[in-house]
Amino acid sequence: MARVLMGPLTRAVVVENPDSSLDELLSAQGMDVTRLSHAPGEDELLRVMKETRAQVLFKRSRVPVTRELVEACPDLFAVQLCCIGDDSVDKKACADHGVLVFNDPVSNGRSVVELVVAHLIALSRRLFETDPVCRQGVWEKNNRERYEIKGKVLGVLGLGNIGRQVARAAEALGMRVHFYDSRYAATEVGVEFGWDAANTIDELMMGSDYVTVHLSASNERGESNENIISRERLMLLGKDRPENSPRIFVNLGRGFLHQPEDLLAAIDAGVIRRAAVDVYPDEPRTGEEWTNPYENEPRVAVTPHIGAATQEAQPRIARRVAWTLGQFSLNGTVRDMVFAPRARLGLVDQSSSDKVLLAVAHSTARGTKRAVDDAIFQAGASNLSSVHKDFESLGVAYDLSVIDRPLSEGEVHTLVAEAARVSEDPTAIRSVRQMHLQR
Ligand SMILES: NC(=O)c1ccc[n+]([C@@H]2O[C@H](COP(=O)([O-])OP(=O)(O)OC[C@H]3O[C@@H](n4cnc5c(N)ncnc54)[C@H](O)[C@@H]3O)[C@@H](O)[C@H]2O)c1
Repeated sequence: MARVLMGPLTRAVVVENPDSSLDELLSAQGMDVTRLSHAPGEDELLRVMKETRAQVLFKRSRVPVTRELVEACPDLFAVQLCCIGDDSVDKKACADHGVLVFNDPVSNGRSVVELVVAHLIALSRRLFETDPVCRQGVWEKNNRERYEIKGKVLGVLGLGNIGRQVARAAEALGMRVHFYDSRYAATEVGVEFGWDAANTIDELMMGSDYVTVHLSASNERGESNENIISRERLMLLGKDRPENSPRIFVNLGRGFLHQPEDLLAAIDAGVIRRAAVDVYPDEPRTGEEWTNPYENEPRVAVTPHIGAATQEAQPRIARRVAWTLGQFSLNGTVRDMVFAPRARLGLVDQSSSDKVLLAVAHSTARGTKRAVDDAIFQAGASNLSSVHKDFESLGVAYDLSVIDRPLSEGEVHTLVAEAARVSEDPTAIRSVRQMHLQR
């Protein structure tokens, strides 16, 4: 059944403890906020979502948003991730029910970049291994496998938001930047910056003294990057570099991009000298027991997914997601939507004040968009302007129309029924929201 709401979103559930300033920012936008500071289990989340009739769920990367949850919460219109990674959300289930999913692709980038830079230098000088030895009262002064980063080749795998910033910082520290990204636009940016583009991941691995991984969970075609940095690829690191290359590997991207046993094998084989890892195939909830896959390997520096865990990043994320969701709530504007990360849709300008905005998530089946337009017309309203985007891989489209008069709730339900009739798809319309735009 289509989800229908006449007005802005007013009820939010916040879980997994994003920065507390978020609640105030949402309250200022007229939202009632229910916060669970921990990462609730499935049953608890479902109970709270139903009790509060939540229209939006704010969460970080742990708590799963399953098809069961989406279907059991008919008031839900949006999931707002307070992080980048979206693999905890069943996006197809959300799309099937007209629930839009947003993330924050930029606010924690700087914190990750600084941790990468710290690792490049710390691993080059073996700081993680030297400190515990000194604490034991051992004076072991040597230059064995200790390097400067100046003049070395940094291979950046994934030249998106974070990869690009890492490359710039490394360049400022005297490194030479080599990169690989499968997106044409990213490659163009890298080349424009004067960086050296590799043609394949293998080529990047072979031609780099250091490799730092900043791939997203999937590529631009939606194909998963799981295990993309295979054992064979790890074994190529520094192959075309001088014998005394530092051969250092850093993954602060996602845990499933490489397997711990493959990295350990490359270290055992003497191919990779040092590594730093912040992300793992299996990550526990805070406080849960965890087996560190590198516990017996001092040459791997291990951190518990703290790339973005800084005093600065978390309030920044709170501000950005409050704005993203606020705009979606008040005027249907879409940015940072994970269905198509670089898409922006909005229709608000001076001339649209005092008008009505209709936001419809509907199926991409042929004829559905036409059916929405016809239904608006049949309801006696005029469509003054509209924007539309298909998210083909998820079979959902989002449609924003400025109309000259509000539809009654009955007319909205007629629109839903008409679109279903004309398109011969009972689920043609997934969700509808109508908002009055105020001056
Ligand atoms: N450790 C942490 O705490 C932390 C914090 C923030 C982000 N991250 C992770 O860092 C990664 C990078 O984040 P971002 O904001 O730069 O993402 P982004 O989407 O801006 O960049 C990812 C880049 O990877 C490229 N890419 C994807 N698949 C590819 C493939 N198979 N081959 C070549 N290129 C490919 C994309 O084209 C894109 O340019 C993400 O996985 C994110 O989840 C980790």
